[in-house]
Amino acid sequence: MTRAAVVQGLGAMVPPGIVTNAMLAERLDTSDEWIRTRTGIAQRHMVEPGVATSDLAVVAGERALKAAGTDRVDLVVLATTTPDHPCPATAPSVAARLGLAGVASYDVSAVCTGFIYGLYAGAGAIAAGLADSALVIGAETYSSILNPEDRTTSVIFGDGAGAVVLRAGGADEPGALLGFDLGSDGSLADLIMIPAGGSRQRTPVEPADAYFTMNGKQVFRHAVERMEGAARSVLAKTGWRADDVDCFVGHQANIRILRTVALQLGLPEDRLAVNLDRVGNTSAASIPLALADAARDGVLKPGDRVVLTAFGGGVTWGATGLIWPDISVF
Ligand code: COA
Repeated sequence: MTRAAVVQGLGAMVPPGIVTNAMLAERLDTSDEWIRTRTGIAQRHMVEPGVATSDLAVVAGERALKAAGTDRVDLVVLATTTPDHPCPATAPSVAARLGLAGVASYDVSAVCTGFIYGLYAGAGAIAAGLADSALVIGAETYSSILNPEDRTTSVIFGDGAGAVVLRAGGADEPGALLGFDLGSDGSLADLIMIPAGGSRQRTPVEPADAYFTMNGKQVFRHAVERMEGAARSVLAKTGWRADDVDCFVGHQANIRILRTVALQLGLPEDRLAVNLDRVGNTSAASIPLALADAARDGVLKPGDRVVLTAFGGGVTWGATGLIWPDISVF
């Protein structure tokens, strides 16, 4: 039997504070109608100032461990665009607060593709025999990096966290991650960027340089192309046809992106997992939050063939596939 990483438990959380489109329209030149029709988003959750990414990651991690029925893992991988500090990584602090001080832990920085990259890291370590289990978390506080004056980004993103526990198992078990397709193209790095605060531009030249910036139109085009391509590649690896996919969990960026990808793959729209109307784009937390909501809504059932795919800054993209296992979701 081929050794593989198997999903053992799933946990997710969003902070209690809700920001509706109407609330944004009070301070920005936008409207509920524009946001709904152009993105599909109706509201997003945001933390109070003072709440950090690790605070959300710890809750999601605790829930995933509880869902998996364990309190031990060999590795903690945290995917985030919004670490607590530029240095050090946030994963060690999350691991320690989960009672996992001593285990290997590190951050993965692949923006909205972060969770797929994190799964790749965890699954790779398990498949190689370097670890027998891993906790992979995607957690974000985009409210800490959004320019409050930028209507093109403020209406899209939200805060939240999700996590899965992976364990060593066999490739023929439900829950086994059945191959990955990952990629990047750094020649497009400027499409999604916080220009200042790193070694290239230490302090902002313009105040906006300190915040998250995005070329939405270009990102839209590349997201469709890369999410479709990565999904096709995973279909080829699993031997599934598009029509075999019961639940397509795409990065929750924009309902028009998801619909276009589904159309191009020849996938009926009712196979799409969608929760962006409730949570917006939560970047690295997007995939596990969408999985958790789909499982709770009954859209995702044990035995379903699932494809996960995402696109994000870098630019980066990725996909993986699995048969959904009969697991707890907290
Ligand atoms: N409210 C009202 N009008 C807005 C607006 C807002 N929040 N944001 C932009 N506009 C305006 C623009 O200024 C533009 O006006 P103009 O025609 O007078 O110049 C018009 O709406 C259309 O802007 P455009 O950028 O062409 O809109 P769009 O249809 O491409 O939608 C996004 C913008 C950002 C919603 C869309 O491009 C998108 O979702 N991109 C992907 C973003 C993403 O998901 N990134 C995450 C990483 S994968």
